Amino acid sequence: MSLTSFPGTNSSPNGAPITKITMPALTDMKRQGKPISALTAYDYATSRLADEAGIDFILVGDSLAMVILGHENTLAVTVDEMIHHTRAVRRAVHRALVVSDMPFGSYNSVAEGLANAVRFVKEAGAEAVKTEGPRIELVHALTEAEIPVVAHLGLTPQSVHRMGGYRVQARTAETVLQLKADAHALADAGAGAIVLEGIPREAAAQITAELPVPTIGIGAGPDCDGQILVFHDLLNLTFAPPAKFVRRYADAGTLIRSAIEHYREDVEHRAFPSDEESYHLPEAVRKALDDMQQAATLRKA
Ligand code: KIV
Repeated sequence: MSLTSFPGTNSSPNGAPITKITMPALTDMKRQGKPISALTAYDYATSRLADEAGIDFILVGDSLAMVILGHENTLAVTVDEMIHHTRAVRRAVHRALVVSDMPFGSYNSVAEGLANAVRFVKEAGAEAVKTEGPRIELVHALTEAEIPVVAHLGLTPQSVHRMGGYRVQARTAETVLQLKADAHALADAGAGAIVLEGIPREAAAQITAELPVPTIGIGAGPDCDGQILVFHDLLNLTFAPPAKFVRRYADAGTLIRSAIEHYREDVEHRAFPSDEESYHLPEAVRKALDDMQQAATLRKA
């Protein structure tokens, strides 16, 4: 099959040409000094909005365990659940790079990680997977298997129990040096990008300057090559005070609650639906029905 006839890669549903963001394109953006915008998304409607808004990299994050499924942390979400959500995102997204998080416990060995990553690509259409921690051997094996990888260092939420909570990492000279060594080893193993979460700005800036692949920061300061936020944090769809690094760009929580309250009140006051929002019988059918009902009443009398 010729590359140019590969289905669905170079046009949007309305036929307008689009330039698909790929993993190498992220490295090109770094080289060109173009900031990379990234956002999590978990379903069709919101990922379609994110894609249409021009986000470069959409992460089906395992944060869905918390923001979609209501778990206390990210540990409970399964590979099957992540695949289910990735499929919905994949159907919506035409331009952004779609990356799926490998959930906790799905890559304890290289063989298990490879098998699960293949499922993300084959069954869900993921274009890359993300793994937490310095899993050098796994990143190398995934890269060899043609599966692009985004690595994730610093505050890695899957390590919540080891870290004793969600704490800023790399606060000493030794731990900054270790983080830098891990980031280099991951890039050498083939990671196409590295998410840096919850680390001091200075450490993120040094890693970003040294690495050939882009860094995507969350709580890592403004010097990373790109930034990522959790969709629900960006829009105030969470139910707890935000972390220091979160900027809320809209208050969708208040908007949605007030719209639903308004709807409930309208139903309770019979103000919804109106006559204009109702279907009607055609005049001729109405008349025929009246005539039939009148005839039936006369027959009974
Ligand atoms: O799961 C997630 O949302 C993430 C981002 C915070 C990077 O890993």
